[in-house]
Amino acid sequence: MEFFASPDQTDHEFISFLTKAGINLSDWFATTTKRGPSPSSFDLPDIAPSRNGLSQNQLLDELKVLMAGSYQPSHPGALAHLDPPPLTASIVGELISAGLNNNLLAEELSPSITKLERGICNWFVNQLSMPETSGGVAVSGGSLSNLMALLVARSNVENLYDSSLVVMASAEAHVSIDRAISVMGLPPESLSKVSTDHQGQIIIESLKEQYMKNKSQGKTCFAVVATAGTTVRGAIDPLNDISDFCKSEGLWLHVDAAIGGVFALTPTTSSLLNSISNANSVCVNPQKVLGITKTSSLLLVSNKEDLFNCFSTGFPYIEPSNEGDFQGGEIGLQGTRSAEVIKLWLGLRQLGENGIKILLDKALERRLYLNSKIDHSKLEVISGPLHLLAITPVDFSKHESEEWSNTTRKKLLEHDFMLSRPQYKGKSYLKAVMGNPHTKFHHIDQLADILNQSI
Ligand SMILES: Cc1ncc(COP(=O)(O)O)c(C=O)c1O
Repeated sequence: MEFFASPDQTDHEFISFLTKAGINLSDWFATTTKRGPSPSSFDLPDIAPSRNGLSQNQLLDELKVLMAGSYQPSHPGALAHLDPPPLTASIVGELISAGLNNNLLAEELSPSITKLERGICNWFVNQLSMPETSGGVAVSGGSLSNLMALLVARSNVENLYDSSLVVMASAEAHVSIDRAISVMGLPPESLSKVSTDHQGQIIIESLKEQYMKNKSQGKTCFAVVATAGTTVRGAIDPLNDISDFCKSEGLWLHVDAAIGGVFALTPTTSSLLNSISNANSVCVNPQKVLGITKTSSLLLVSNKEDLFNCFSTGFPYIEPSNEGDFQGGEIGLQGTRSAEVIKLWLGLRQLGENGIKILLDKALERRLYLNSKIDHSKLEVISGPLHLLAITPVDFSKHESEEWSNTTRKKLLEHDFMLSRPQYKGKSYLKAVMGNPHTKFHHIDQLADILNQSI
């Protein structure tokens, strides 16, 4: 068996390998509804390399064992997290990206794809109406995008290592913001958390008061993080008020739009995200909603030079850019980077503007439909304007809600529905993410019945 595809003739062995792998993958999809979203038990293939290596068929058999134990996001009951089924074009994009094995570190290692990445970032920047100086970089996940955004924000302050520096964010901001603070060497109290209202949105008056209090205590706020789509309920912070406040105080505004950012691509919700155009940095995660295979996140900034100024170190072993632009490895934390942008670009091309809109609108519709089927006399529903909602029994104590969510999640799994179990404001909830295009109204009816009968 050849280990590498032939560089000078059609490689029939390689074609057969790809074809058989494709058939196995397609079989895995085709048998989805015979299994649940997540296997109850599974085997693992051997892990260490064997002495003489394996044949194609042996490798494919081992892959099948691994696939049988995998989570299945395409199951109609897979509603627990922001992990939707992958678009077919995105899968193919991922495969081609692996085959090309280009490196987004530098133009010379990815001539066309570096340009594609710049183009895709510019397309998103235009969709979000960010200024002409804007640009961005593809990043492996939202946590890294958020960390990079805060590093860029901090790079503008005089004393980077000043422990009186603070970031202000809502109490419902994603944990990646806490982690960024810790990785940046700042004490945990450097994250100044602002209370949210009954809709899960940051309270703007509290933000202002807390900012003044921090200031009076000699603390320097170097960034405000607004969340567009909180993790538990999809709330969007009041972006307009926050951006006005940041402008008046000269503060860096980072919008964590890992969940909500793509909802700017449908007129149904785009107006909710208008003020993103005023942000200094924005994290968008097409992997979470649009079916782009993992990982796919973009960090967009209103001035692309800010990325370069923060991350560039000089590249003594790399040719300068032919385009007079920044090299991919000089505008982020990652060095070698895969061509993740191919699957994003191909996925968006496959959907087209109408497909994107339909995908997002249907996710919103499913959330509204589920909400309409819940017995609100028994169950409290919390949500925002996006496609997530979370449920807990009315008037249950912390302990009772904990028990209920545990038992009900198990019950749901018996019926092939997988919901997640977040803690929120002292209670345990069951959260449903309605971004799965295979979830039809009859599935939602069944889900609602089980939930309504759970107390
Ligand atoms: C609001 C928000 N921001 C950031 C992230 C982190 O994204 P990732 O999981 O891609 O690191 C998440 C993850 O769920 C999130 O919900």
